[in-house]
Amino acid sequence: MDKFVVYNIKTLATPLGPAPKSGRAMADIKVLKNAYLVAAGGKFIAVGEGDGYQKYPYEKIDAGGGLVTPAFIDAHTHLVFAGSREDEMQRKLRGESYLDILASGGGIHATVAKTRAASEEELYRLARETLNKMLLLGVGVAEAKSGYGLDKENELKTLRVIKRLKDEGPQRLVATYLGAHALPAEYKNDRAGYIGLIKATLEAVKAEELAEFCDVFCEEGVFTYEESREILAFARDLGFKLRIHADEMTNSGGARLASEMKCRFADHLLAASDEDFAALAAAGVVALVLPLTSFFLRKPFARAREMIDRGAAVAIATDYNPGSSPSYNLPLAMQMAVLGAGMTPAEALTAATLNPASGLDIAGFKGSIEVGKDADFIIFDCPNLDYFFYRFGENRVRDVYLKGKKVVNNGRLG
Ligand code: NIG
Ligand code: FE
Repeated sequence: MDKFVVYNIKTLATPLGPAPKSGRAMADIKVLKNAYLVAAGGKFIAVGEGDGYQKYPYEKIDAGGGLVTPAFIDAHTHLVFAGSREDEMQRKLRGESYLDILASGGGIHATVAKTRAASEEELYRLARETLNKMLLLGVGVAEAKSGYGLDKENELKTLRVIKRLKDEGPQRLVATYLGAHALPAEYKNDRAGYIGLIKATLEAVKAEELAEFCDVFCEEGVFTYEESREILAFARDLGFKLRIHADEMTNSGGARLASEMKCRFADHLLAASDEDFAALAAAGVVALVLPLTSFFLRKPFARAREMIDRGAAVAIATDYNPGSSPSYNLPLAMQMAVLGAGMTPAEALTAATLNPASGLDIAGFKGSIEVGKDADFIIFDCPNLDYFFYRFGENRVRDVYLKGKKVVNNGRLG
């Protein structure tokens, strides 16, 4: 089934290049009614309205009067880890903060202990299961970070799991090294020593080509602005693309650093200021919001509306991880961005497709339904884009195609 036509699409909604879309342009999506698309060789070769599809002598697929969008792109996940931390949820409900739990040796440290103890095979099995469930929600590309190994051996183990998943497909994965996720207990009194280990690990990661991006958790009690800058500058010189967990809990200079270093993404931004938003917009950094994390930490959502109004290019991701976002549900994150953070459905679509593709440097062939791009798309069991947001919390993904291959069929894998 190399060549096919999808017809009877009630609504086809997609952003259009060039990417990223910033400010007002985020809402400027293309919406076709009574539409069709044509794919050949894994790429889109035509998109249109009406019965123009009939001239193609290819297999015909009935979209059943549903909505079609590009496959979603989750540009921030901590995909690979062992164990769970539901015990901390109780502590948080009783009033302890995320950073208090981390400082007391819990939080990220608890997951590091479990991840170090897990075999590569076990980590692979857990992550494979998650990726499959993400596929059922329409996620065709995911970024995946290390950061629960912290020593060289366990960081490389994690990145090798990501490499195996990436080689296997069907989703495209983009790997990020996040050695600077927390200061490991064994380096408690030797910050400089740990930064030295991060640099040595970056070299090893580069030599094995295990990651494209380097990330840092720039936060009070974690890594300072200066330490983050030192790590990111070293990574940049080795050829890594850069991103930052910026101003998640406190304004720690992360967004400012992302603008100064022209990172591809600044992520979280709950505590970032209006000036930070304007600087990110001016520097062309994609501002990435993580509504599921805010919800789970019971904090206000990042101010996506203000970011867009100040001209930023916004992306939405899940932050899937065992501590602050134990959910990989990107459609739910999009719905929360609309219902809780003032984005419009059109903006949220751009923020989960073309803008994350742009930040990940794959917008040349992913993130929108345009002739020449990979035929990655979702057929929903719902008639229009508004309806997808309106029925929040329900999975209405019917079929998913990646590079023209059907990977979800009627809500099931295969
Ligand atoms: O993005 N902020 C740092 N990392 C994750 C949380 C990781 C964890 O708690 O295990 C985040 O929120
Ligand atoms: Fe994160």
